[in-house]
Amino acid sequence: GKVAVMFGGDSAEREVSLSSGTAVLNALLRQGVNAVAFDPAAQPLTDLLTQQIDRVLIMLHGRGGEDGSMQGALQLLNVPYTGSRVLGSALAMDKIHTKQVWQSLGLPTAKYEIADKRHFEAGSCGAIMDKLGNEVMVKPAREGSSIGMARVTSAKQLDIAIQNAFKYDNQVLLEEYIDGPEFTVSVIQGQALPSIRMSTPHTFYDYAAKYQDDTTEYFCPSGLSQDQEAQLAELATRAFDGISGSGWGRIDVMQDSQGQFYLLEANTVPGMTEKSLVPKAAKVAGLTFDELVMAILATSME
Ligand code: DAL
Ligand code: MG
Repeated sequence: GKVAVMFGGDSAEREVSLSSGTAVLNALLRQGVNAVAFDPAAQPLTDLLTQQIDRVLIMLHGRGGEDGSMQGALQLLNVPYTGSRVLGSALAMDKIHTKQVWQSLGLPTAKYEIADKRHFEAGSCGAIMDKLGNEVMVKPAREGSSIGMARVTSAKQLDIAIQNAFKYDNQVLLEEYIDGPEFTVSVIQGQALPSIRMSTPHTFYDYAAKYQDDTTEYFCPSGLSQDQEAQLAELATRAFDGISGSGWGRIDVMQDSQGQFYLLEANTVPGMTEKSLVPKAAKVAGLTFDELVMAILATSME
């Protein structure tokens, strides 16, 4: 069969997707898979039919590729694709709805408030800080790679950060800051891979810490006790199932100084760049990058 690796796209995470997609395409080609690049920002989806594509490996990050819309289009075109279906993709793209689902399932996630651009009042920032504590994370509801995010410690900073986040989304999640460290758990075919702990000198694990400089330290194994590692793996798989995730994905989590875990978000098309997390965890689990890519491709065969 012929595989199209979809990457690029026109989201704010286009650059990240270009890195992920190139690495994945090369891995398929190295292994003799008949694979081609497909950038939905540059070609119509009907090319999938004229090029007789048998399945799509989705490596698009962000809106338009990771949020269920592409998944729905491929479903209607009857082309099998990797990873989560429409519902899981749409839910995971939206950090607010993700939290609401996790809360309803009794899964731990930090306290939050919502800022809605249509009726947000700048004067409300003091009251928000009173509710959430003196450090708040500001996140556009539907972005990835920390784009548009900020960590703030005053009502004035909060107002500025919210106005900035409104450039990316009309809905902004305001979250009590959990004093880290941050962990991530990759999930593939229902199995959690070893957790990774990230340590960054930045005020949080932001875009630059993720992709642009080499200051982030990654620990895998993460240094948790066996009990805590098992607890985190269980939490991550329940969180992924809870938002109807399927195939493969990655759950990001904070741990407070008491050892308590708080779910941050789900990624249904996690990064596969050289600096990305899922390949690091796979390696520790004994899976090469090439084997990981084949395992991801296999999620389209269900
Ligand atoms: N949103 C980026 C690609 C990630 O989660 O790895
Ligand atoms: Mg994300």
